[in-house]
Amino acid sequence: MKKLLVTMMKGGTGKTMLVCQLARHAHAKGLRVLVVDIDDQMNTSSCLLRGEGVQKLPFSTTQVYRDRIANIDFGDSAFTVLCSDSTIKSTITEQMMATDANGEYIGDNAVHNLSHFMQQADQHFDLCILDTPSGMDHSIVCAMACADYVLAPIEFTPECMEGITTLLSGPRSIPTIREFNPGLKFLGFLPNKVEATEKQKAIMNDLIDSGSMGSFVCDDQGRLLSIPKRQALLQVQAEGISLAEFAKNNSQARSALPTVRRVFDSLLGKMTLDATGEDHE
Ligand SMILES: Nc1ncnc2c1ncn2[C@@H]1O[C@H](COP(=O)(O)OP(=O)(O)O)[C@@H](O)[C@H]1O
Ligand SMILES: [Mg+2]
Repeated sequence: MKKLLVTMMKGGTGKTMLVCQLARHAHAKGLRVLVVDIDDQMNTSSCLLRGEGVQKLPFSTTQVYRDRIANIDFGDSAFTVLCSDSTIKSTITEQMMATDANGEYIGDNAVHNLSHFMQQADQHFDLCILDTPSGMDHSIVCAMACADYVLAPIEFTPECMEGITTLLSGPRSIPTIREFNPGLKFLGFLPNKVEATEKQKAIMNDLIDSGSMGSFVCDDQGRLLSIPKRQALLQVQAEGISLAEFAKNNSQARSALPTVRRVFDSLLGKMTLDATGEDHE
């Protein structure tokens, strides 16, 4: 099971949209998918459960971080979500500060508990996608310690440089996490909600000048990948369905679908998950 963590400091850049849509796309291609919602906003949990065909595990991400849950029954669904709840942030903060009866630090139990859950999920799923809250808190650092890949959606806005810097350097950056998770791979920054406006073009030029474009997601031919801003993507998220499903009756979804599919297939390819199964979309 490949573990992909989707993160970005800033809210609204499309983390939840990417997680839900990539999960539905991967499942439609025949992959067994587990989605782990770490965000106390529970947007991913509710979006996936609004639609059809998603099984919900009978415990929450908070419980997984807090307790060492053994003998998990993952059921027989090939599309499953581990839902978040509103107590996740406070639980993780407590957990990271924890000491045992002798005053010994046991704050890394959260990482061990999450790893223990992942080990049990390993044989049941091909892909686990973790959605994170905005910001960079303990819950994300714990999840990065267990992940194989990180993907970071960005918007071409004036604040995007801050999020880029946080992931590339600094105390909770990918190089720092690699000190205890050496296998962690950064798939890159993925521009989302892209529009051909002068403002977005200017920000992209600034990024080129700053030298950060080398950390952006590219396809096999080295072309920059991105997702356009489309009302259809907002609508599919509101309804909890896949873009492919919506494309059956919506022309805007139909025109956006090839671009979005190309991005998703490229991401799956980078994780060596080129699905061999039937495409049900
Ligand atoms: N490419 C896009 N085009 C149009 N709307 C989008 C796009 N990506 C995301 N959205 C919408 O923008 C809002 C914020 O996206 P979301 O995925 O919730 O961001 P995050 O999880 O990073 O906070 C949601 O309403 C979502 O449906
Ligand atoms: Mg979100």
